Amino acid sequence: MGKPLLSLRGIFRRIEGEEILRGIDLDVRRGEFLSIVGASGSGKSSLLYIMGLLDRPSEGEVLFEGRRVNFDREEEISEIRNRKLGFVFQFHYLLPELTALENVMVPMLKLGIPRGEASERSAQLLESVELKGKEDRKPHQLSGGEQQRVAIARALANDPLLILADEPTGNLDSKNTEVVMDIFTELNRRGTTIVMVTHEEHLAMRTDRIIQMKDGRVVG
Ligand SMILES: Nc1ncnc2c1ncn2[C@@H]1O[C@H](COP(=O)(O)OP(=O)(O)O)[C@@H](O)[C@H]1O
Ligand SMILES: [Mg+2]
Repeated sequence: MGKPLLSLRGIFRRIEGEEILRGIDLDVRRGEFLSIVGASGSGKSSLLYIMGLLDRPSEGEVLFEGRRVNFDREEEISEIRNRKLGFVFQFHYLLPELTALENVMVPMLKLGIPRGEASERSAQLLESVELKGKEDRKPHQLSGGEQQRVAIARALANDPLLILADEPTGNLDSKNTEVVMDIFTELNRRGTTIVMVTHEEHLAMRTDRIIQMKDGRVVG
């Protein structure tokens, strides 16, 4: 077993005097599919935000690929986020005025990938999430499940090492949930590390390892 991809050491997060995370130690291994479960308000999203360098801990260290993340260096942090991480949220946050294809292209264009190449690669990604033929639709012309699949394709735009997904199937029916789980399982089989927050036990059961949270702590 190599070095962990991501490590959290003694993480605390306090907001307005409230302790939301209380001493989290966790290693995410390369190539694993990890799920985080726990009651609403137990700190799952807060933890995922820190893992994704979207929020800074009040105390403790985050190591990414063995290096300590310096939260004072905004540039370094965006570099990791933009190049190595992919995010999928419960609400997809697609840009409503852009087509599915354009939504997937956005992160590629930000990375400086030429338009033609970005367009071609985005079309391939949409095909991989079974949206071939729907590239030119705007989000409102797609079903909830299809929108979430566009969001997954967009999360894959930078070919991330690590995907962080916060209740990615929270708004989906069972059929679409299945499709999304199949996509994640296949991505993971091909080597992508995935951390998924879910409150659905049967989905967590399909991952390599389950972390249980309670009141800002990992309890199992
Ligand atoms: N920005 C914030 N300001 C104040 N309290 C917050 C904020 N974000 C989260 N919390 C609180 O932190 C706790 C954990 O929230 P969260 O991480 O969203 O839990 P979960 O995702 O497990 O439902 C909750 O009690 C929530 O109200
Ligand atoms: Mg949450």
